[in-house]
Amino acid sequence: MIQKRIYVNGIERNLFVNPDSPLVNVIRGQVHLTGTKVGCGEGHCGACDVIMNGKLTRSCVVKMSRVPDEAQILTIEGLGTPDKLHPIQKAWIKHGGAQCGFCTPGFIMSAKALLDSNPKPSREEVRDWFQSNRNVCRCTGYIPLVDAVMDAAKVMRGEMKEEELDFKMPADGRIWGSEYPRPTAVAKVTGALDYGADLGLKLPPNMLHIALVQAKVSHANIKGIDASEAEKMPGVAKVVTHKDVKGRNRITGLITFPTNLGDGWDRPILCDEKVFQYGDAIAMVCASTLEEARAAAEKVKVDLEVLPAYMSAPAAKAADAIEIHPGTPNHYFTQKLEKGGDTAPIFGDPNVVSVEENVISSRQPHMPLEPDVAFAWPGDDGKLHIHSKSIGVHLHHAMICPGLGLEPENLVLAANPMGGTFGYKFSPTIEALVGVAAMATGRPCLLNFNYRQQMQYTGKRSPFFINIKLAADKEGKLLAMDTDFDVDHGPYSEFGDLLTLRGIQFTGAGYDIPNIKGEGRTICTNHAWGSAFRGYGAPQSFLASEIAMDELAEKLGMDPLELRFKNAYRKGSLNISGQEPDSYSLPEMLEALRPKYKAALEKAKKESTATHKKGVGLAVGVYGSGLDGPDTSEAYVEMLPDAPLYKIVFPFPHIIS
Ligand code: FES
Ligand code: FES
Repeated sequence: MIQKRIYVNGIERNLFVNPDSPLVNVIRGQVHLTGTKVGCGEGHCGACDVIMNGKLTRSCVVKMSRVPDEAQILTIEGLGTPDKLHPIQKAWIKHGGAQCGFCTPGFIMSAKALLDSNPKPSREEVRDWFQSNRNVCRCTGYIPLVDAVMDAAKVMRGEMKEEELDFKMPADGRIWGSEYPRPTAVAKVTGALDYGADLGLKLPPNMLHIALVQAKVSHANIKGIDASEAEKMPGVAKVVTHKDVKGRNRITGLITFPTNLGDGWDRPILCDEKVFQYGDAIAMVCASTLEEARAAAEKVKVDLEVLPAYMSAPAAKAADAIEIHPGTPNHYFTQKLEKGGDTAPIFGDPNVVSVEENVISSRQPHMPLEPDVAFAWPGDDGKLHIHSKSIGVHLHHAMICPGLGLEPENLVLAANPMGGTFGYKFSPTIEALVGVAAMATGRPCLLNFNYRQQMQYTGKRSPFFINIKLAADKEGKLLAMDTDFDVDHGPYSEFGDLLTLRGIQFTGAGYDIPNIKGEGRTICTNHAWGSAFRGYGAPQSFLASEIAMDELAEKLGMDPLELRFKNAYRKGSLNISGQEPDSYSLPEMLEALRPKYKAALEKAKKESTATHKKGVGLAVGVYGSGLDGPDTSEAYVEMLPDAPLYKIVFPFPHIIS
């Protein structure tokens, strides 16, 4: 331990710290300022940016031993407060820069450091600054952030009145389409919004930290788990294994299609008989500190019989592959499609122009800035309470109750403010784990993934292995499509059949194709499990059909835009599954695009050299919003007699009630 005297936001702090502790842990855990966030924890994302002695600093990678004595540290809390926002914070609100808000404190501190050193940056300089200082945002696309810096800089130079950053209610009182700030904006730009890890720091002193014992192989039989040495380690309250799980120890996707050969009960909360993928949770050490929990987790011995790992759909489908879930074939679901007549004679017709492509889309992580975090606590009401990044608390409640062994009325699930999920939290991730830990120890338990765990143990976009054939007449009118694909959904089946159905729906979507034959298969593999991701099945499908459209255009000698325009859905077209599309917007959109596209082609041609060629890419994307079936929604609003629904006091004195 060492003693350090530093100044945080101008206030002297006399601290006793571990020399190896990262500065951010001291700011958050010992100075109790949780506005500075931790994303990657390894210096790559900028979420933890502070300004130390005038220099932008990634506080997750600076150890306390390297923090100079008397260092002046500025955190988001020292920049502005909810009742006195800094112009950068106001500009962030005006331009919608704080969406999930998890990157926001780091970005704002980075912007402050930029404007301190360069009060009049160009847009390019702002972008370059964020790029070179590794500030990452997954939500905004960066344009609003650059807009915010440019406006804040004008205010700070005295070229724009600060009031111009405040929201003005439109004369007609309509906020739709206006810059009305989101209700959480002030909390996000000041770092006052408590995300899961921030709430975790505010749990009572008897809380326990969880360290996972995870599989370091992708497929194995578990022959034994020996926690005896770990149980004796300092600070350890309990080592939790599958034997401590009161219920069925499985997470279920609730619904599997009737033709699914599995039963949907294949994802263990804690592995009992088998490891199904790298990173699977085998045991949890619950201890007083995270360091103690991690040290003890290293001592848990797992006896494994390693099995062949099938890391792709073709490998898992091979004739000699063993069943990953014994009793269920690795190819466990098939979705077929037939539209119109037989396609074989069309592809065999010498007057028809056709192409055939084999396309593999990659497995893709969601990369939210905030890693997964959850905590659970046994309430005085006799119920188990779980707080997490769940984006479907009601769905997840039903998915984990039987596994935990709880009657529905005894489980309370709450969603914390969260730093983006982009779909992966449509599946429960660590909710059941913290629930089991709290039930087994009778104490509040916190599990905060580091970024490695985030990558290993959350769902991913599933790769598709697609064979596609397209046929058209010589004028470019599409006549037929054959599709045949495997979905590598990892080891856990939840929503895998639904995703395969999506592949069938979206491959070739957007075009009037009269004859289609298709088959999609869901394959169980030992790679990372599949979960929802923006577009859910559409990007994989379009990768194949849009590549095929480009290839077909080339073979026909047609412009790729004109081929798409000719075949886009119009009144009278039927979509892939033979229904009338809800809208016919594509021809109009392509017409609007045409002049820009032509200009881009000209530009690319002019700028191409003998060694460097430039080109213009074009792709159509179609997605059916909502789940399958009629798209419906309902809202329930309760007007409370004594309180407004939203009360936004400062700096926007509008009350909606
Ligand atoms: S750079 Fe520090 S949390 Fe990512
Ligand atoms: S607002 Fe930037 S990561 Fe969400």
